[in-house]
Amino acid sequence: MRRLSGYPRWFYAALMIVVTALVASGILLLPNMIELRLDMDAPVHLSGSLRLASAAAHSFTAFLAIGVVGALATVHMRVGWNRKQNRKSGISLLALFFFLLASAVGIYYFGDMDLSRLSSLSHSLVGLVLVLLFAWHAVVGRRIRLQKRRGR
Ligand code: HEM
Ligand code: HEM
Repeated sequence: MRRLSGYPRWFYAALMIVVTALVASGILLLPNMIELRLDMDAPVHLSGSLRLASAAAHSFTAFLAIGVVGALATVHMRVGWNRKQNRKSGISLLALFFFLLASAVGIYYFGDMDLSRLSSLSHSLVGLVLVLLFAWHAVVGRRIRLQKRRGR
């Protein structure tokens, strides 16, 4: 099984499961966001209980994701940063996670309707961008890892 240098064997799988669950639960929240926040018709409609379960799953996986990113900061990011490898997409990923966290707090706590709507919309769009950036970072990262292995 694939692993991330410097981490226990299970960590890579855990990272992938958490990121996938985070994105999947976020996508499930999109129809409700379109209907309630943007006042538009969504192509699909989720029942109240499914929407509640998705929101709970999303919040839960978001907490886990923040923990996983914190764990990556201790070894993965430091080593990559010091070696000047995969820096651009790595630091951009980190910035996106930070934005998602900040805009999630905005969704909950902005009293002003316009600001709250802006938080929801930007959170959802940046969430989708995260998928692309994560894939790009992982593909380039994998290439770097394979080159390192061949060089040994
Ligand atoms: C670390 C990253 C993330 C954090 C901390 C986070 C956190 C949250 C929180 C706390 C909520 C409010 C849940 C509720 O309705 O009670 C939320 C809503 C939402 N999130 Fe995320 N999320 C993250 C990543 C993502 C990603 C990757 C997507 C991708 C699609 C996404 C899409 C959404 C959507 C569509 C909503 C509903 C917005 C609304 O109804 O106003 N999130 N997020
Ligand atoms: C400053 C920030 C970061 C830097 C400099 C960085 C650097 C690197 C480097 C050099 C690799 C090549 C393989 C290795 O060393 O193991 C890599 C791969 C990878 N990184 Fe990052 N990274 C950063 C942030 C992140 C973040 C925030 C995540 C996830 C949330 C992440 C997830 C991954 C994944 C999944 C791989 C692919 C591993 C593989 O398939 O072999 N990285 N990164």
